[in-house]
Amino acid sequence: MSSTKIFGWKLSNYIFNKNYTFDRKKILNVCGEENIVDADKVISNWKNYQPTPLLNLEKLSKELKIKNIFYKDESQRFHLKSFKALGGAYAVEKVAKENREITISTATAGNHGRSVAWGSQKLGLKCKIFISEYVSEARADEMRKLDAEIIRVKGNYEKSLEACISNSKANGWEIVQDVAWENYETVPKLTMAGYSMMIKEISIQTDQYITHVFLQAGVGGMASGAIAGIAKYFKRIPKIIIVEPENADCVLKSIDKGALRKVDIKKESIMGGMSCGEVSLIPWRILRESVNCCTSVPDDHVAKTVAMLRNKYFYDKEIVGGECSTPGIISLISTCENKNVKKKLEINENSNILVIGCEGDADKKLYENLLSKGLTQLSK
Ligand SMILES: Cc1ncc(COP(=O)(O)O)c(C=O)c1O
Repeated sequence: MSSTKIFGWKLSNYIFNKNYTFDRKKILNVCGEENIVDADKVISNWKNYQPTPLLNLEKLSKELKIKNIFYKDESQRFHLKSFKALGGAYAVEKVAKENREITISTATAGNHGRSVAWGSQKLGLKCKIFISEYVSEARADEMRKLDAEIIRVKGNYEKSLEACISNSKANGWEIVQDVAWENYETVPKLTMAGYSMMIKEISIQTDQYITHVFLQAGVGGMASGAIAGIAKYFKRIPKIIIVEPENADCVLKSIDKGALRKVDIKKESIMGGMSCGEVSLIPWRILRESVNCCTSVPDDHVAKTVAMLRNKYFYDKEIVGGECSTPGIISLISTCENKNVKKKLEINENSNILVIGCEGDADKKLYENLLSKGLTQLSK
């Protein structure tokens, strides 16, 4: 494959963080180091627990002239097919303790709810899940299969969260949410601690020092959980690059201003789980100083990247990566095509880069649509 023929991709936007100072202690304090240690203890004892594969994308690293590009393949995370399996289900277990009489509730774009439903099902707890009008029926069905009751709410994710909070208050349900608000901080910290497991596994899976990590962000929970994992488990601190959809770049805008900034989403991204207009409070306390660079990417290359993952363009076996698995790769490729950013980030033939393949075909219908669109684009 030739980069000039296939790529030619551009970042929509990028900024460098003027307030960068990576402080391990501070980061671990925000997430709670004891939560990170406990998450490892609890999750590694779950039935069928196995680290997800860390793939070396040799074909892509050859193409981009980079030493190694590692892809953490979360499509293999239990049968839930996304890293979210680590967060919500772990938080349910901690919230429930030994109590089997409580009802768990949450609002979700899909994968978080699936994790909460699974965690509740494992413990025999009732589970109520609020979804917006934009969440597909395919995703709703996956949660129903895990015995959750689905409540569809008119409007966007924020509306589904409002409905979840008011109904839970009225009925005495325990909310297990991955975002924080005033006086609701414990559970989001637990979900972040769950996500740090990915980094624990990676620290064992390779003896190469990772030099750069590309982390997707919606509200920032996954990215800050991974950064907490880096603070805990990595000997050397890599450069951290955030990637967001161009229409939902709330982390980029906030880092740029050094203060939380909301984004009014004009058009929802195809990367649905990342189409968020507001950074969550706890993640922000970690992200604001630990991130080196923020990038945003358009939706244009998502389908093609899904198809390239599947058709062995990057690796010698098929990879099933859903829409939110693509932006790390898209940002990396686009960064490599931007001489200034590449140089400033010191990405070169000695780099060991990590990207996170956040999900597999968690939404089968959307995955098949993207794959077929991408294959058509590739054949042109
Ligand atoms: C499926 C999915 N949902 C959501 C997110 C965003 O996570 P968060 O909202 O914690 O930043 C990601 C990755 O960033 C993802 O892959």
